Amino acid sequence: MTSDRTRRGKSTEVHGIFQKIAGYYDRMNFVMTLGRHEKWCREVAARVAPAPGGQLLDLATGTGVIALEAARRYPTVTVTGADFSEEMLRRAKAKPGAGAVRWQHADAAVLPFGDESFDGITEGYLLRNVEDLHGVLREQHRVLKPGGRLVILETCPPSGLVKPVVKWGMRVIVPLLGQVVARDRKSYSYLESSTRAFASPQGIAGVLRGLGFKDIGWRKRFFGTNVILWATKAG
Ligand SMILES: C[S@@+](CC[C@H](N)C(=O)[O-])C[C@H]1O[C@@H](n2cnc3c(N)ncnc32)[C@H](O)[C@@H]1O
Repeated sequence: MTSDRTRRGKSTEVHGIFQKIAGYYDRMNFVMTLGRHEKWCREVAARVAPAPGGQLLDLATGTGVIALEAARRYPTVTVTGADFSEEMLRRAKAKPGAGAVRWQHADAAVLPFGDESFDGITEGYLLRNVEDLHGVLREQHRVLKPGGRLVILETCPPSGLVKPVVKWGMRVIVPLLGQVVARDRKSYSYLESSTRAFASPQGIAGVLRGLGFKDIGWRKRFFGTNVILWATKAG
């Protein structure tokens, strides 16, 4: 288990935020995405399509929305939900259907799994939180079997015609919702700044290509504020 002492700067800050917001994470997500988050998680689970009887990893599982959906959708697949926040995992384990998922404490920077262990990997909102995007995706490439699929849900830096409106909404509305719904403006100000500074889907696709992924694609959602990306590990 990674301790606060071995975790590095940004990682310690991110771990602290998710420990703190775990209790109202689902509620805030529902409000911020106008209820769409669960639908995107269903799409992520549908797109990963692991072989029957296979192994699926949901990384940064948080309160387990994608992992639980995958376990429901693929009853013959072993689903592992991994996260480094003990509090988020505690909430996931308390949900209906949680017994169908293996919950594991893990840091995405150093995955505690052998090479080529999984037929598919899903993740929601991990990448913008990590210090070393390339290193974290390299770890996922390592534990994925050749031909296995990776499906990523992420927030997207605003672009195009809606950019000024989205920027304003994220800077003003999101921290305000954090204040009203969760009494926590600071944690949700972090969301705005981490999204603004984060890589575009093209940027993530470039890293994936460089690591040996193929058949890379993506679809933006919710006025371009969220994106679902997919890629296959070359055989
Ligand atoms: C915004 S939540 C997303 C949870 C879930 N995937 C969803 O879509 O609702 C991000 C999660 O990533 C986890 N996380 C961030 N950095 C991590 C790391 N380096 N290793 C493991 N988990 C990490 C946090 O603890 C948190 O639970």
